[in-house]
Amino acid sequence: MRVILNGFGAVGQSLAGLLASRDDIYTSYGTKIRLVGAGDSGGGACLEAGLDLAELVRTKRERGTVSGCGRPADPKEMIRDLEADVLVEATPSNYVDGEPGMTNIMTALKRGMHVVSVNKGPLALALPSLIEMATYNGVLLRFSGTVGGGTPILNYAKNSLRGEHITSFRGILNGTTNYILSNMEDGMAFGDALADARSRGYVEADESLDLDGLDAAAKLTILANWVMGMKVTMPDVRRTGIRDVTLQDVRRAAEDGSAIKLVASCDGSLEVAPVPVSRSDPLCVNGTLNAISFTSEHSGTQTIIGRGAGGIETASSILRDLLDIRRAVAG
Ligand SMILES: NC(=O)c1ccc[n+]([C@@H]2O[C@H](COP(=O)([O-])OP(=O)(O)OC[C@H]3O[C@@H](n4cnc5c(N)ncnc54)[C@H](OP(=O)(O)O)[C@@H]3O)[C@@H](O)[C@H]2O)c1
Repeated sequence: MRVILNGFGAVGQSLAGLLASRDDIYTSYGTKIRLVGAGDSGGGACLEAGLDLAELVRTKRERGTVSGCGRPADPKEMIRDLEADVLVEATPSNYVDGEPGMTNIMTALKRGMHVVSVNKGPLALALPSLIEMATYNGVLLRFSGTVGGGTPILNYAKNSLRGEHITSFRGILNGTTNYILSNMEDGMAFGDALADARSRGYVEADESLDLDGLDAAAKLTILANWVMGMKVTMPDVRRTGIRDVTLQDVRRAAEDGSAIKLVASCDGSLEVAPVPVSRSDPLCVNGTLNAISFTSEHSGTQTIIGRGAGGIETASSILRDLLDIRRAVAG
């Protein structure tokens, strides 16, 4: 399987490391994953025989870019011209116009390339059209790392609950805001809790993505399309972030046996908002954990809990998607 990896940050580098460490992929899954191209904001590198993964990581560390390892290439042109089976899209999530991921994904799909995206921007803004484009071109679009990182939330709902009718779901889908709210439960003021989260590297460079609920809304949109079959985009989500949550709100909820959580919910309409969640509800997880409860017609409510982000966790979701594509294509 020939793969182009666009975006060589925390997730991209973890994927290179993961692939280099897994010499069992061929024997276990009957495919060799060959990285024929890699790109970052400084340029790109390609090699039809497959780039040396260790050299790629070393070059990035030493020069700040993958360019210079293998044959130099422009990342955009690589997606347009290089022979490959799958594009892995791992550039930053942008909720204004989805770029550069939007163009990358559309170019790949139109060329007949499968796509694995961990980039949430293009999916939050245009998932119904991208699914249609993939179907029209006879290729697969997978994105299991966009919700829950390495925790297979999308696969659980789609495959483990196959045949069920999921009627609604509620989730804590952003670990950063959950960490801040958990700190506030321990008595920390919002500003101090935010500073603590920042010092641990939990907060996005653009903090609005976490605090104003954009990241949670993007994940909610992806879930609603994939799990509920809705055709929605991010503007369909009613969204309130956590900036106005006070210590008084948190204390009042605690007196009622609850904790304030940023909950993304889908029960006909889509909403992200800070609401009290009973401490006895399995959804009520602390720290950076993610959790989601699916309610279905005959199986009741089931909750899945796990770490929602992290470079290596998300890289493992990419590997899962690549193997899923391999299995689907092999029939
Ligand atoms: N980290 C996680 O835990 C996690 C979990 C789930 C989903 N995601 C999503 O996965 C994606 C990647 O996350 P990350 O943590 O790896 O982000 P990151 O560390 O910021 O890496 C982003 C990469 O994209 C590259 N890039 C930026 N603009 C580009 C362009 N125009 N062309 C080619 N490459 C470009 C950057 O280049 P430089 O290296 O030169 O800056 C960098 O290598 C994001 O969309 C994120 O939302 C991340």
